[in-house]
Amino acid sequence: MKGIILVGGLGTRLYPMTRVTNKHLLPVHRFPMVYYPLHNLVEAGVRDIMLVTGGNQPGAFLELLRDGREFGLAHLYFAYQHAPRGIADALRCAEAFVDRDRCVVMLGDNILAGSIRPYVEQFRAQQAGARVLLREVPDPQRFGVPRFDEQGRIVELIEKPANPPSPYAVIGVYMYDETLWDILPTLRLSERGQYEITDVNNAYLEKGQLYYDILPFGWSDAGTPESLHRAAEMMRNSDFLPNPEFGVWED
Ligand code: G1P
Repeated sequence: MKGIILVGGLGTRLYPMTRVTNKHLLPVHRFPMVYYPLHNLVEAGVRDIMLVTGGNQPGAFLELLRDGREFGLAHLYFAYQHAPRGIADALRCAEAFVDRDRCVVMLGDNILAGSIRPYVEQFRAQQAGARVLLREVPDPQRFGVPRFDEQGRIVELIEKPANPPSPYAVIGVYMYDETLWDILPTLRLSERGQYEITDVNNAYLEKGQLYYDILPFGWSDAGTPESLHRAAEMMRNSDFLPNPEFGVWED
């Protein structure tokens, strides 16, 4: 199982904080933002991890994280996304690294107040397909949103719907089997000029291979001033933090 953390993009919703600084380096409570998804993956037992970066300060992730030793890793891998053309486009940069293994993708601005280990284990046990995580939110129109049928099955995912069909957000943790690499080349640019991760998830849904879990603990994105503040406040009150000994190099 491979892990991918997406830490590119321009972070325009946080200007001017992100005019110089990469969004994923901004502080969330007491760690740089990227520490949280990295902690989530390592804690879930994912050891081969690639960061896909771009936008501002791409080299800073190597300076900050070095080889990942602080997280108990032997190596960290890095890739570069040339243009901010969406989450599904960033994934293409990791194709050779994943090498048709399964992967867990995390958006670098998604902050979780608990472990994803049980869901990654469910995905490992799953025969094929994809797995997404949902969380009830007060503002689903900001996210990818599922529409359910009467049996509670997802029938469609809609990116940023004006009239959300449910109060759930599809959060930025996605688990994919090797057919991801066949789906990516079939995607079309969306109206906002991006290759949408929601289109990837809908492709799995059409094959009848999209599974989901509902998160029982706190989650926030951190891509707007309000959500960045909310994420910091959530982690200030959470026990699920990166190891507090982090920050001390062993060498
Ligand atoms: C992205 C995805 C969206 C998802 C969200 C989670 O939105 O497109 O489906 O719900 O991440 O944080 P973005 O942050 O790019 O607006």
